Amino acid sequence: MYRYDIHDQTLVDERVAQFRDQMERYRAGRLGEEEFRPLRLQNGLYIQRHAPMLRIAIPYGMLAGNQLRALAEITRRYDRGYGHFTTRQNLQLNWPALEDVPDILADLAKVQMHAIQTSGNCIRNTTSDQFAGIANDEVEDPRPWCELIRQWSTLHPEFAYLPRKFKIAVSGAAQDRAAIQVHDIGLRLWHNADGELRVKVLAGGGLGRTPMIADVVREDLPWQHLLTYLEACVRVYNQFGRRDNKFKARIKILVKALGIEEFRRRVDEEWAHLKDGPQTLNQAAVDAAKVHFPEPDRRPVADSANDDFDRLRTENRSFARFVTNNVTDHRVPGYKAVTLSLKRREHAPGDVTADQMEAVADLADRYSFGEVRVTHEQNLVLSDVPVDELEALWKELEALGMANPTVGTLNDIICCPGGDYCSLANAVSIPIAQALQERFEDLDFLYDLGPLDLNISGCMNACGHHHVGHIGILGVDKKGEEYYQISIGGNSTDDASLGKILGPSFFREDVPNVVEKVLEVYVSQRHEDERFLDTYRRIGLKPFKERVYA
Ligand code: HEM
Ligand code: SF4
Repeated sequence: MYRYDIHDQTLVDERVAQFRDQMERYRAGRLGEEEFRPLRLQNGLYIQRHAPMLRIAIPYGMLAGNQLRALAEITRRYDRGYGHFTTRQNLQLNWPALEDVPDILADLAKVQMHAIQTSGNCIRNTTSDQFAGIANDEVEDPRPWCELIRQWSTLHPEFAYLPRKFKIAVSGAAQDRAAIQVHDIGLRLWHNADGELRVKVLAGGGLGRTPMIADVVREDLPWQHLLTYLEACVRVYNQFGRRDNKFKARIKILVKALGIEEFRRRVDEEWAHLKDGPQTLNQAAVDAAKVHFPEPDRRPVADSANDDFDRLRTENRSFARFVTNNVTDHRVPGYKAVTLSLKRREHAPGDVTADQMEAVADLADRYSFGEVRVTHEQNLVLSDVPVDELEALWKELEALGMANPTVGTLNDIICCPGGDYCSLANAVSIPIAQALQERFEDLDFLYDLGPLDLNISGCMNACGHHHVGHIGILGVDKKGEEYYQISIGGNSTDDASLGKILGPSFFREDVPNVVEKVLEVYVSQRHEDERFLDTYRRIGLKPFKERVYA
């Protein structure tokens, strides 16, 4: 885990003092609303429907136990005792008082956290694979590279006022778990035939009003040039991205308008000035970043522990379910990664109480070297659990309500805050998620359906990734009334695709029935072991449409 050095710490501390002063001037009426706005947004502070909202950065989703404890204490002292983990691996507080925000930032700084660049038209938090460093299919640990990007992008003077916000995601594994094809820039670390590390650079993906899958700008960038090449890409965007129309300002619109060849040509032209310049990476710089992500001091796990684990799985059905759905294989024999479900009917997807945060920090200390990761599916991960401790951990998670064995199923819904909190919403989304979780809670049914992503957004900004849900639900407004548009066939992994809209939208009460009909078509049409997505791809939209609008 990356630890701040004296420079990082000084910078973050100074930033807190600066913001405190800005807040005081605002409250004293010496800064107007419009003057204060950019200052607060640069510190992740929004004004929302009921209250301010503070978005706290969690670099590439990594949290230390003490950070999680501090977050718990912050939500208790300044908010309503819970926080909301988002698809961008951040944590949002929905009810802080404006005047408390400097104190919150000061408390965050004490545990090496901040809210800088979690909002505004700058390079936002870089996201990554929640199984970074431990995945079986990993080629290169993306975390040190994310950290290098973090250092390069945070407070980059040239990129403080881009045409629009900018999001980078990095994957270093065979399987993309970071949704790199729907980010402004997606990076894939891979090895060429000579075993050399290369970076595949994608640009122009994104969701929101005009969803797009990214194009490949460069297939095989040598790693030394990662930052100079990124700089060239963002420069081209900064220079040519549209500033006249907010809705056409994202890099995806530029890439589309120019065409990928022309975009690439301009990037290369810019890169010619930057290549081999001072930002060129060398082994020493990379090693310095890698030092922060050492292998944990794993104890050897006896072979017999694996046998015991297998036996337990056959004996205990509940445990077996949990293992099948929430436990992931690990690069190191004897170890597993465990996904803690933040999907429970009585809470919004991604919400965690202060007590739970503390309990998870405690579990992380006891079972997983004191680290926790946030997933873009709005769950948490303990990445390094020995197999002989899995059962004990599972029991503790059960008691906490975080052992729902539904990870990756229809019940593992991604959902934005929607109309309950967000002032941009057209419709509520949390109650839709809850209604669906209630309707589809039978585990045998869920398992029979197989992997299914159901994603919900309360408006076209797509914070809930609805375009890339196998089933996507979007809140729409028609003459002041809330309706829901359903799309199917979206996907954010390697074979990324955008969902297609089924047809006219539905009343809120109808949504569970419509989803049920969609599932019925799948179940009746699927070939053996065929995923929902593949059945849809084979048979197309028509049968679903016919059933739903019959
Ligand atoms: C409640 C406060 C929020 C506000 C005001 C807000 C605002 C926005 C806006 C305006 C966009 C569209 C940007 C564009 O297309 O240029 C957007 C997109 C997005 N937001 Fe949010 N959002 C909020 C909460 C969230 C939450 C809770 C999440 C995660 C669950 C999230 C994650 C995202 C993602 C992933 C996108 C997708 C667009 C892209 O491709 O970049 N946001 N948000
Ligand atoms: S999708 Fe819309 S409603 Fe949902 S959080 Fe984003 S801006 Fe708000």
